[in-house]
Amino acid sequence: MCGIVGYVGNNDACPFLVSGLRRLEYRGYDSAGIATLTAADGFRLTRVAGRIDLLEKSIARKPMFGTIGIGHTRWATHGPATEENAHPHMGGNGLVSLVHNGVIENYESLKQSLISRGYLFKSATDSEVVAHLIADTLKHLPASSIANNSESIDRYVEAVRQSLDQLRGTYGLAILFRDQPDLLIVARCGSPLVIGVGKSEQFVASDTSPLVGYTDRIVYLADHQIAVLRPDSIQVQHRDHGKIRPDVQTLAAQETEASLEGFEHFMLKEIYEQPQSIRNALRGRLDRDNATAKFGGLNLTPQQLRSVKRIILTGCGTSWHAGLVGEYLIEELARLPVEVEYASELRYRNPPVDTDTLIFGITQSGETADTLAALREMKRKGHHTLAICNVVGSSIAQVADGGIYLHAGPEIGVASTKAFTSQLVVLSMLALYFGRLRFLSYEAGQRIIRQLEQLPETIEKTLECHGQVREVAAKYASASNFLYLGRYYNFPAALEGALKLKEISYIHAEGYPAAEMKHGPIALVDENTPSLFMVPQGAVYDKVLSNLQEVKARGGPVIAIVDQQDSHVMSLADDVITVPQAEDFLQPIVNAIPLQLLAYEIACIRGCDVDKPRNLAKSVTVE
Ligand code: F6R
Repeated sequence: MCGIVGYVGNNDACPFLVSGLRRLEYRGYDSAGIATLTAADGFRLTRVAGRIDLLEKSIARKPMFGTIGIGHTRWATHGPATEENAHPHMGGNGLVSLVHNGVIENYESLKQSLISRGYLFKSATDSEVVAHLIADTLKHLPASSIANNSESIDRYVEAVRQSLDQLRGTYGLAILFRDQPDLLIVARCGSPLVIGVGKSEQFVASDTSPLVGYTDRIVYLADHQIAVLRPDSIQVQHRDHGKIRPDVQTLAAQETEASLEGFEHFMLKEIYEQPQSIRNALRGRLDRDNATAKFGGLNLTPQQLRSVKRIILTGCGTSWHAGLVGEYLIEELARLPVEVEYASELRYRNPPVDTDTLIFGITQSGETADTLAALREMKRKGHHTLAICNVVGSSIAQVADGGIYLHAGPEIGVASTKAFTSQLVVLSMLALYFGRLRFLSYEAGQRIIRQLEQLPETIEKTLECHGQVREVAAKYASASNFLYLGRYYNFPAALEGALKLKEISYIHAEGYPAAEMKHGPIALVDENTPSLFMVPQGAVYDKVLSNLQEVKARGGPVIAIVDQQDSHVMSLADDVITVPQAEDFLQPIVNAIPLQLLAYEIACIRGCDVDKPRNLAKSVTVE
């Protein structure tokens, strides 16, 4: 959701800015723009409503020069996706140019006050307000005492600092000044920014992906920090407490540039990466000798973990679905009560939470605004907060008291696939760990470890169902509605399957516990509404079969996911997809594969933009 890039150095800024925006495309956006600056010509601005391809064409027609610049991909919040609303925005009659991620909550009152002072607004955005505000503040700071260039730069920094003091809301900002053609100021409060430290050049981006290949030395900017970037220097300061020594870290080698490697879409590539991403999630975390799991970063002693009485799992979307599976796992294996909360509800709901409750935020991106806010609120109340997170160094990873990384590698497709299965693997290991601290026997622990170790191979075999899934997709791609049904561990899997289909193929789909059908949703069943049932062998096999028959008896087409040559199901279902057998607790991971592939194939048949579905963003940084 919205992406920022920036450059100041001795090379042309434009190539980095464009390639950086391309690498941020996965976050989701609907317009894009770039501003460059030269001492001779001032700002040059190119903005488009639409994709980076369009931006590039526009730049090719009117090249942009300058060794300093900023760029942005915008996911519309205030005002539609038009060229006028695209960033960069100008302030103070061309004095300032900036790009902004986040939401300025008090923009309306600031705007009215700026209008009354003669500022003209060209967009409907909250961001343009910040550009005018900085220009206005700068205008009112005395310039007369400025003796040299560094003091003069202090004045620009002070103008930014004073302006930020007036903002309520969230921001990641990259700011240029017409009169300072080698000064880039960035600031952060709630929207991520990473600085790439180069040789006589500095880079800025919303995450590390644009920096790969340019530099491996990075500084994560924290909330309330401002960085002053010039070709040969970086100075970081806290908004209120003065200068800070920048913590320069090395970008991990595996964070390499994302490429399709022969796959047609990132989503498909990521579906096929799951045997490996699951291996990565398991690596070094299974302790055969003690029949348990081990985690390096929980930052709690076994004694403290033993005294936990309740767990809250919180997240959004697919990560919330992972939490639901986690609830089943932890309650069953560890006999610990678990609650799963939408982060957007938890942050305002104020439920009574006992002191011995542990809070886990589940998140792929580590930037989801609601999950971040829910964790902050729980932390404020004194709870130990942990993150189950994919993106190293992300905001949530920084805010939490500890956590577990997924190590799934970059997930570029907007629809979460490999991160989901890695979340389930981590939650399975957590359940094993908590179980072994409590009532789970050594033998039961060993059995779970064996099954987890087998999982990457099982997923490799599961991917062989792709041919069957393709046929099913071809048959049902024109449906307007879909039902996804499962029980026990496959109920959350049904919710996730329905979400995958909705988000990338734009077909309306609902997931239900299969037995709930007769309490209402069965009224939807007709000959045009396919119902997908997960009917693997296991604890609730017979029960799901009865539910399947209820749908069949009402003339609805039935697609069944089975885990053996099940003649009974085959005689009832219109279509069958076969996956390998797995224990109940691993079935949501195995079944995720055909559900992801089905959504993918249907979306392709319908000509949808699989990796960048309409209206969606990869990193949801607004609430
Ligand atoms: C669906 C999807 C979203 C995310 C949700 C939370 O495929 O990707 O529902 O799961 O926006 O995002 P994270 O996990 O990054 O916090």
